[in-house]
Amino acid sequence: MLDGCGRTIDYLRLSVTDLCNYRCRYCMPPEGVAKRDHGDILSLEELADIARAAVRLGVKKIRLTGGEPLVRRGIVELCRQLRTIPGLQELCLTTNGALLPQLAAPLREAGLDRLNISLDTLRPDRFAEMTRLGHLSDALAGIEAAEAAGFHDLKLDTVLIGGFNDDEIDDFINLTREHPWEVRFIELMPMGPCAEWDKARFLSGDTVLQKVPALQQIESCGVARRYRLPGAMGTVGLISPVNHDFCAQCRRIRVTADGKLKGCLHSAEELPLRGLHGKELEDAIRQGILQKPERHHLTERRSDTPRNMNQIGG
Ligand code: 5AD
Ligand code: SF4
Repeated sequence: MLDGCGRTIDYLRLSVTDLCNYRCRYCMPPEGVAKRDHGDILSLEELADIARAAVRLGVKKIRLTGGEPLVRRGIVELCRQLRTIPGLQELCLTTNGALLPQLAAPLREAGLDRLNISLDTLRPDRFAEMTRLGHLSDALAGIEAAEAAGFHDLKLDTVLIGGFNDDEIDDFINLTREHPWEVRFIELMPMGPCAEWDKARFLSGDTVLQKVPALQQIESCGVARRYRLPGAMGTVGLISPVNHDFCAQCRRIRVTADGKLKGCLHSAEELPLRGLHGKELEDAIRQGILQKPERHHLTERRSDTPRNMNQIGG
């Protein structure tokens, strides 16, 4: 359906947990987040109900997010259920990859169409430093498992961070020479723990084009401007929410793991969906779509949402 600004809304990002097995410095406090009571988080049935209602309203693509969605018990079963929803064209999931060695094959078999794997650095020491709890070798094993399970058109999502990984831009892009992947650089957004970070940490996606002038522009896809190295198998995507905001083309709504509909990642506005069923649930989602804010204000100030990214789902 159309939102209040005439944008088609057909993409739901559904967060299935705010927990994560990592503690990335820009996303989470070092102590992590308190595990909530079971009842505070949407049940698998509630998640499926919300997904069905959203698809009835015109959603064609669902992405499962977290925290880390693969730490949610029942995630494979949820995928299997969602895949049966008539009218859902694409079911995707964004993960840090650590649990893919066990889960990639079952997820594929349950009908998951596509995987995005977050990977901010290719250096083991930096990986441990940024994620506080992670090992690069697990993420790389996850990528391998995903490919072996049949997820060939992987997207690797790299948050660009000045002074941390901007000297690895070449290394990431070189991965596309021999892999059919899309390596995507995402501008760091000032929210949660990183909102107070030094300005030098926040790089424009255009930095990538300056560093690698050989990139040739190809057609955009969704919110990503896309490029290719001559002769490369894979592609490069630039996602620039801060410096080239794509609010006018935004097609998404989000639901947090505690059951709040958010029209915009960066808005404080939230609409509770818990306890609603059938027509009531559908009406609430319709209302949320109609109220979707026109744009965010990241260029003027920090994000307006009081939530950290693990509580929204990227
Ligand atoms: N800015 C940009 N991306 C972020 N992510 C988490 N926090 C931020 C932020 N402040 C990314 C993760 C992951 C996705 C779910 O969101 O790295 O790729
Ligand atoms: Fe976990 Fe992703 Fe947040 Fe890192 S950025 S702590 S992997 S949710």
